[in-house]
Amino acid sequence: MSLRAAERDYPGSFITLEGPEGAGKTTQVKLLSQKLEALGIPHTVSRDPGGTPLGKQIRRVLLKPGTYIAPMAELLLYQADRAQHVDELIMPALKRGEIVICDRFTDSTLAYQGFGRNIDRKTIEDLNAMATQGLTPELTILFDLESEKGLGRLHPGGHDRLEQEAIEFHHRIRQGYLTLRQEQPERWATIDATKALISVQEEFARIIVERFADRHPKLKDLA
Ligand code: TMP
Repeated sequence: MSLRAAERDYPGSFITLEGPEGAGKTTQVKLLSQKLEALGIPHTVSRDPGGTPLGKQIRRVLLKPGTYIAPMAELLLYQADRAQHVDELIMPALKRGEIVICDRFTDSTLAYQGFGRNIDRKTIEDLNAMATQGLTPELTILFDLESEKGLGRLHPGGHDRLEQEAIEFHHRIRQGYLTLRQEQPERWATIDATKALISVQEEFARIIVERFADRHPKLKDLA
């Protein structure tokens, strides 16, 4: 359910994309962005971590294989990236009235650092709230697929620090996403990420049109 304007202190719409490794979110969001661009719909597409100049540096540190990063340090680095991202990029775009689509956000931290690394949930939720200044997505789309399938799609050349983790870690993450979705079904939509690229793209567009066309009427041309 989308928040009404009176419940938000910005005119834009905030959508996040989540999922296990190899779900194809990044490709899908690029394709969608091209269509929004062609229709002249003001939007910002970004990713977490790495959506700002500082975030790009933090992302390199987080994903570089071979460095031991303690779970709490990892959690705080993701939150540092996010605090910068919300302040520098996401909130200004929402205040300009744009549709902001972010590839991963706070649910990634609950899935990876919470379900994956077993860090206490309340600690993560408190830090999520601090880093985002209370900003929460109105719609979160889960690009769902089994961990083995997703990992099997990754480029064989070089896996990053998280992708290299044991399969059990990745199983906990997928289960984590399914649990989070179950807890707040009104915020989540799910796309079967094993389907062909074109069907996933159509489903992705359909979900966004359905939820936000009343606020951004030009979106109707996407369908
Ligand atoms: P990606 O942008 O290529 O998906 O890479 C980001 C990696 O970081 C991915 O493995 C998920 C992980 N991650 C976390 O562990 N916690 C987080 O809070 C976020 C945003 C991402």
